[in-house]
Order: sequence, then structure tokens, then C-alpha cells
Amino acid sequence: MSKLKVIDSIEEMQEISANWSEEVGFVPTMGYLHEGHLSLVKAAKENCKIVVVSIYVNPSQFAPNEDLDTYPRDFDRDKKLLEELEVDYLFFPKDSDMYPQNYKTWVNVNDLTKGLCGKSRPTHFQGVTTVVSKLINIVNPNKMFMGEKDFQQITVLKRMVEDLNFRVKIIGCDIVREKDGLAMSSRNKNLKSEDREKALSLSRSIKLAKNLFRDGEIESRIIKEKIWELINSSGAKVDYVEIVDPVTLEDVEKVDEKSRVILAAYVGSVRLIDNGNLE
Ligand code: PAJ
Repeated sequence: MSKLKVIDSIEEMQEISANWSEEVGFVPTMGYLHEGHLSLVKAAKENCKIVVVSIYVNPSQFAPNEDLDTYPRDFDRDKKLLEELEVDYLFFPKDSDMYPQNYKTWVNVNDLTKGLCGKSRPTHFQGVTTVVSKLINIVNPNKMFMGEKDFQQITVLKRMVEDLNFRVKIIGCDIVREKDGLAMSSRNKNLKSEDREKALSLSRSIKLAKNLFRDGEIESRIIKEKIWELINSSGAKVDYVEIVDPVTLEDVEKVDEKSRVILAAYVGSVRLIDNGNLE
């Protein structure tokens, strides 16, 4: 018998979470779970007595022209995976409860949200910071486990929880990849089979940057140019390629091993992201 409790009411989740007396780990997700998500759940299980996972495809982080409607969903499969991992609570709120008609409040983190994905998705991070604030208030966790796959997201959220004095610690977890290097993502399901090879140009770009740096290249401009070439010649289309300081997310001209290569590209109609340091 599984002990997973599915909760779709904010009030009920808050009643339960008001009186947590043990260490609570929280993994916020948009569902269609893969090994990347599950690695966060496993880390939460190892570190905390109670584990809560949320599944909520948050409409406010998608622009009108983006893929909210085609974002993959499979609640029954997700629930089964979480049962197998002996998760305690699955929080699965409804749009009408999260954003009722008179909803007016938004959380914004300045500067860190301007560049990288914030440039091509100008309203995205406001949606993320707002929904994650709401989820923290509802779930009341001690620790929140998040993937470095979304490097800008985790950087922005770490700033937010510090600035707004949320009593939660964000634990960053490594990127989980397919055997061929492709970073796991729910969106990989929407890749056409002929585009799978093109998608590999993202992880290959991170490898290329590491190799160039290992061979002595420290000019950010040159590494970025070579990545542009690699991605565009594969048939994918670069959205952006940047090499930034991992804390401020500001561009660096001369790279070191801590510098973060962050990139996004369109593979067919699917937008994918990847990142890595140069170690
Ligand atoms: P989602 O894309 O479902 O990702 C949920 C969590 O899983 C995030 O912390 C993300 O970084 C992590 N993740 C995704 N792919 C990963 C991979 N290959 N390896 C390791 N971790 C991975 O990110 C979101 O949802 C949303 O923006 C959310 C934070 C839930 C707010 O709506």
C-alpha cells in the first residue's frame, strides 16, 4: 500500500504544513517526470523526513506564444513514479485556486532576470518567482531541491529566498543527462525523431567549451563563436549563447573554470536549454 497522499486543495495543504515538526523537503515541478526530476526527489528523500512534490504547469511563466498548450502531461504516470519513490505528499493545485479572477500580486527579482532566458522570455521569471513564492508559503518546507539544468532559475530563486527572508534553503542538484549527453527535459518528448541529433548540439557545445578552455582558450568571444557555428551547422537555431559569472550572471570576457556557459536553441519548434562550467 502506497502512502502517497494527493492533495489538490491549497487550504488542505496549508493545514497539513502549518504543523510540520520534522524536516520537510520540497521538489516543485511541472510534471511529466523524468530521471532529472526523480534525482531531486531522491536527494530530498535522503536529506529529509517528509517529502512533498508539486506538479503544476504554471501558466504565468509561459508567454501567449509559448508552449503551454503542448506542454506534456501524464498525471497517472507521474503519480506512480512518486509512489514508487515513497514520496509523502503530491500537491497538485488547480489554476482557478492558484490564480483566482481577482489575482493581482507578482514577485520580481531585478537584474538577474534581464539577460539569458529573460531576454527572449521577458515575463517568464516573474511567473516562476511568483509561483514558487506561493508554493513555499503553501508547503512550508525547510529545503527545496532544484536542478542546475535551469541555472538562471536556481540563481534567481536563491536570490529571492534570501532577499525576501523565506525560511527555506535551496539545494542545487547536478544536471541528469541521457546516455548520449542530451540534458533530460520534459520538452524532449516534443522533439521529432529527425531532430533528436540536432538536439545533441547543445550538450556538445558545453563539451566543446570545456575542451577549448582545457586547450588554453580564455577569450569568451571565441568560445561563443565556435558554439554558434556548432549549433547552427547542426540544423538547430541558436537563441543565445553566453558565458557568465555563476553568481552575478554577468558576461565575462576572459573565462576561468568557474565561468558558466549557458545557452538556448530551437530544435524544430522546441526550445531547449543547457549549461555547464568549464572544469
Ligand atoms: P520543471 O521544468 O518541471 O523542473 C522541475 C525541477 O526539475 C527544476 O528544479 C529543474 O531544474 C529540475 N530539472 C529539470 N530537468 C533536469 C535535469 N535534466 N537534471 C536535473 N534537474 C532537472 O523548473 C520548473 O519545472 C518550473 O519552472 C518550476 C520551478 C516548477 C516553477 O513552475
